[in-house]
Amino acid sequence: MDKITSLCKRRGFVFQSSEIYGGLGSCWDYGPLGIALKKNITEAWWRDMITAREDMVGLDAAILMHPRVWEASGHVAGFTDPLVDCKKCKHRFRADQLTEPTCPDCGGELTEARNFNLMFKTFMGPVEDTASVVYMRPETAQGIFVNFQNVLNASRLKIPFGIGQIGKSFRNEITPGNFLFRTREFEQMEIEFFVKPGEDEKWHQYWKETRFNWYLKYGLTASRLRLREHGSDELAHYAKGCADVEYEFPFGWSELEGIANRSDFDLKQHSEFSGKDLSYFNEETRERFIPYVIEPSAGVGRPLLAFLVDAYDEDTAEGEERVVLRLDPRLAPIKAAIFPLLRKAGHPEKALAIRDMLKEHFAVTYDQAGSIGRRYRRQDEIGTPFGITVDHDTLKDDTVTVRERDSMQQIRMPVDRLIDELRARLSVGRAAVVA
Ligand code: GAP
Repeated sequence: MDKITSLCKRRGFVFQSSEIYGGLGSCWDYGPLGIALKKNITEAWWRDMITAREDMVGLDAAILMHPRVWEASGHVAGFTDPLVDCKKCKHRFRADQLTEPTCPDCGGELTEARNFNLMFKTFMGPVEDTASVVYMRPETAQGIFVNFQNVLNASRLKIPFGIGQIGKSFRNEITPGNFLFRTREFEQMEIEFFVKPGEDEKWHQYWKETRFNWYLKYGLTASRLRLREHGSDELAHYAKGCADVEYEFPFGWSELEGIANRSDFDLKQHSEFSGKDLSYFNEETRERFIPYVIEPSAGVGRPLLAFLVDAYDEDTAEGEERVVLRLDPRLAPIKAAIFPLLRKAGHPEKALAIRDMLKEHFAVTYDQAGSIGRRYRRQDEIGTPFGITVDHDTLKDDTVTVRERDSMQQIRMPVDRLIDELRARLSVGRAAVVA
């Protein structure tokens, strides 16, 4: 993990929030390469889960919602972790994560466990009184449930269908940690898929497989991925069943995404608390029912960390040690780097003209500093799939050398074929490119 965090900072993937002030615990800023990688992940999710499907639509609900939402959802009463304080050093811990009855930092005596609500509170409007308390949403899901009827009325969707959303969530975690893995501000990619009661088990199975395969599609190593069914003692208050997609991080197997069968809990609760009927009427069968909900709920930071960990490799290239991020080309922040072999003889002008041609289509960069080997190395380290070099022959026959990151194979290619070739090679997974 130290190698990943150091690479992230050095190359501008992730910085500590407010670093010049000493940093803010468990909040992180995505730098130029980090935001590019994050956008590629969220866009891949949106494309595969929403745009490419007939039975899914998108939504972008507000982060701040009516406080009653969180009463109905059960978060005000039950979204808590058991908290203990050390009476000596004042450090705080989650009681359910302790193995000893005393403080793990100083051996001091611990207080009794008390329930600590993980929702951040803030105030809406200029008066800070209890009437103006609102919560920073701890999941995007509730924004979908409260809009269920709006979406239904505004569309011609019929059950089964789903609503997907990507957005920020906030949890005042007692013990955040492991870099991007557990943070207090994070992004989620959530789907609420509405089905007829009785068909829920079938759809739950479908979404477990679909979401597991999505991680494989973007290159996570199969042997480091598993689907783990929850025991009945682990289930959230709303869940009839749940399975996690887990990845084997350097700190152990940990959850990337939960796929839950939320039953009809949420729509029933919101019907009751709001007084609005959230049932569904099937015109063909003349049946009315409260739909069941299957919820594949992923973070963004955790998959991003898994993609980085999985892609990280060290090997020897052209006689030198190199760090290489073997990212799937569709996720790579920069798709191609253009290099002039020399900083004279017309090479930079030609390389810049190629950069300008390609930048309309792909995220590309230009680099003329240092030896060609060092320039390849710089791009390997950030996962750029292709290096394009302009040399003497380019000026004679308008061809360039294209070097592939993983195999380091080089092929000669006419400049006027570059856009089509790169498009074809960048639209498929890593294995296909190398082959
Ligand atoms: N709506 C259901 C829900 O929020 P969850 O298992 O609490 O379920 C879903 O969260 C996903 O959100 C997790 O699998 C994880 O990827 C991400 N997530 C949850 N808490 C997080 C945190 N503190 N930091 C980073 N990601 C988090």
